[in-house]
Parts: sequence; C-alpha cells; structure tokens
Amino acid sequence: MESRLVKACLLGVLIVCLPWHSLSQSSGKDATAAQSEAEYVCPMHPDEKSKAEGTCSKCGMALKQPSRQGKSEVAPTSRWGPDYFPNVTLTTQDGKKVRFYDDLLKGKVVAITMIYTNCVDNCPLETARMLQMQKMLGDRVGKDIFFYSISIDPRRDTPEVLKSYAEKYKAGPGWLFLTGDEKDIELISRKLGLYSEPDPNDRDGHLPTLLLGNVPAGVWMRNSALDNPSFLTIKLNQVLGNYSDQRKGAVKSPSVAARLEFTKGQYLFATRCVACHTIGGGDHIGPDLAGVTRLRERRWLTRFIMTPEKMIEEKDPIAMALFKKYKEVRMPYLRLTQSDVASLIDYMEAQTAALRAKEDGGTTK
Ligand code: HEC
Repeated sequence: MESRLVKACLLGVLIVCLPWHSLSQSSGKDATAAQSEAEYVCPMHPDEKSKAEGTCSKCGMALKQPSRQGKSEVAPTSRWGPDYFPNVTLTTQDGKKVRFYDDLLKGKVVAITMIYTNCVDNCPLETARMLQMQKMLGDRVGKDIFFYSISIDPRRDTPEVLKSYAEKYKAGPGWLFLTGDEKDIELISRKLGLYSEPDPNDRDGHLPTLLLGNVPAGVWMRNSALDNPSFLTIKLNQVLGNYSDQRKGAVKSPSVAARLEFTKGQYLFATRCVACHTIGGGDHIGPDLAGVTRLRERRWLTRFIMTPEKMIEEKDPIAMALFKKYKEVRMPYLRLTQSDVASLIDYMEAQTAALRAKEDGGTTK
C-alpha cells in the first residue's frame, strides 16, 4: 500500500520538474560518465557493462563503446541549428532515405522518442503515448507536427521490422520509424541528449523520454514519455505556441497554436489532477472521477475540490468515508479558485457525458 504514496510522489516530481532542457550540456555529461565507467555499455541499461564486446543480458542489444570522438562532437554550441544536428541519412519504415536535419528537423515542430522494437520495458508505453497524442492531434500530425521514433537497435530494427511495429501500433501518416547506421544513430542520440543516460532515478531501465522541439524557434523540451498524453499534448502546444511569436515568420503556420487550444478545465485537469485521477480509466491514486459530477452535488464537489482538508475537519460524512478508503494519500489542497473549480467540474461532466455516449453507442455488454 506504500506504493501508492511513492507513485504519488514520483508523479508529483515528474510534473513539477519538467525541465527546459539544455541539450548540449546533458549529452556531453552523459558521454563522459559512460566513458569513465566501462568499455562497453548497453544503450538502454547503463548498468550493463562489459570490458569486451557482447550483448546486454537484459534486452539483448549490442553493447556499445562510447566513442572518444563523440565527446568533441557534443561540445556546447549556442544554437541548435543546422550545424548542431548531424545531417546523417536515416531510413524510414518504408525504406525511404531521409536526411536527419534537412528532411526531418528543418522548419518543423517535432516529437521524438528513441525506441527499439525488442524492448519489453518502457518503449511500448512510449509508443502508446505517442499514439494517444497522435489521436488527439489528428491530421495535424504530418502537417504541423512530425513524430519520429528512432531505433537505437538498428542492427535488428530493419525497415521491415519497423514497418510491422508501426502497423502493430497503427501509427498514422506523419509518424516515421527510423533506422540507420549505428554510428549515425548514436550521434543523433547524443546530440538530442537521449544517449544512454545513467539516471539516478532509474538505474535499471532507460528513462523513457519524449523530446518536443520547435526547430525554427530553437526551443526544445524534454518530458517523460509516460506522462498523461493530454498533458504531453499541452506541452507540445506550449512548444508550438508560446515561442512561435518570438521569431515571427520562423514558424510556417502561425495558426497552429490557435488550433491547438484546450479548454481551461481540460488544462487544469491535465496539469493538476491526472497525477492521481483518471476519468473512466479506473482508480489511480485517487478515485476514478467518471460520474462524480452525477454522484455528488455540485456544491459539495466545489467545496471538496477547493478545501478538502476543511471538510475532513468538519467531519463531512462523505469526505470522511473517502478519507478512510483512500487513506494512503489525501486529496491535496490545490489553491484553486472558484472559477477554476467550475471549469474543472464542467470538464469532468463533459468527459463523463462523452464516456456514457461511447458506452451507449458501443455494443451492450
Ligand atoms: C495527490 C493526489 C491527488 C491530486 C493531485 C488530486 N486528487 Fe482528488 N483525490 C485524491 C484522493 C486520495 C481522493 C480520495 C479522498 C481522500 O483521500 O482525500 C480524492 C478525491 C477526490 C474527489 C472526490 C471523489 C468522490 O468520490 O467524491 C474529487 C471530486 C477529486 N478528488 C477531484 C480532484 C480534482 C478536480 C483534482 C485536480 C484539480 C484532484 N482531485 C487532484 C487525490 C488527489
């Protein structure tokens, strides 16, 4: 039961700590750390080291030798422009050759993950998250925003393998799965700061990272790929929107930001509540909130969301019962205003209605 608490804390940390990431700095550091520790290291499991060539006992990927050369290549540069990103050739899942900078990055807004199809830990989740984002963004993927999943196991992930992987996940157009020369991919992952990060929070697996970039604006943001997809989509919106104005004309389609608008309730829910609640996804750290707007009176809900601790103090019977049931974590006092809470309740109500409509529309169970 402790695990809930731990989960809550971790999620909190994830949400609070989303860093504006300095790509050049971190990749440089990682490279140095890996070099001093071992000769050959698994790109996904940094603790898997060997003095000789071989494969990782956890995932079977070829162990890699951090190249000395890589170090100078990641020397900090002021701008992440054409001279920062290598213009190496990669191959798509359809066997098409593309240049990393010219074809994939230049002038674009991108979401990038590094995956390998044999991965059993986090990649399926990363891919699933991208899939959910793709659904939310609809046909903007491939027009305004480009998704790239780059294999870090190019020996095994041939275009054919990637193609069937993409099909398995029903990846839509505008989402490329890329493979290429091992050295080139390593260089890319270093430049993106996604190279085998020995992460103190996650010693065993790779920390699944989704990199969002607005290339013309030079803005990059690193996120946990395991975050709630609507939250990630909002982040993508920020990368797109807030910075497109800074370099007028740099972003081809200024209407993009406007079209990616979220309601206030949705935004608040995604940033303040998803760490603990789902709507229709089952109990998480707190209860599933589907139907809560129908189960409780609006006045009660408003008070509870605004001042949960007060209701416990007053020994409100519902609050007491919930408190008993979810005793590991308390619904936090989130400093929301009356109007915030009104938007949140409207959002929960709309989500519940949408769920009900979907259930009614589907086959009766
Ligand atoms: C840190 C985790 C956490 C966060 C963040 C959180 N909640 Fe909760 N919430 C809980 C827990 C746990 C409960 C169960 C009651 C308790 O133990 O206090 C709860 C209960 C509730 C309830 C009552 C459910 C019912 O059956 O009546 C509502 C409504 C609610 N939360 C809404 C929200 C909203 C809206 C947000 C975001 C603005 C939010 N919560 C953020 C943990 C959280």
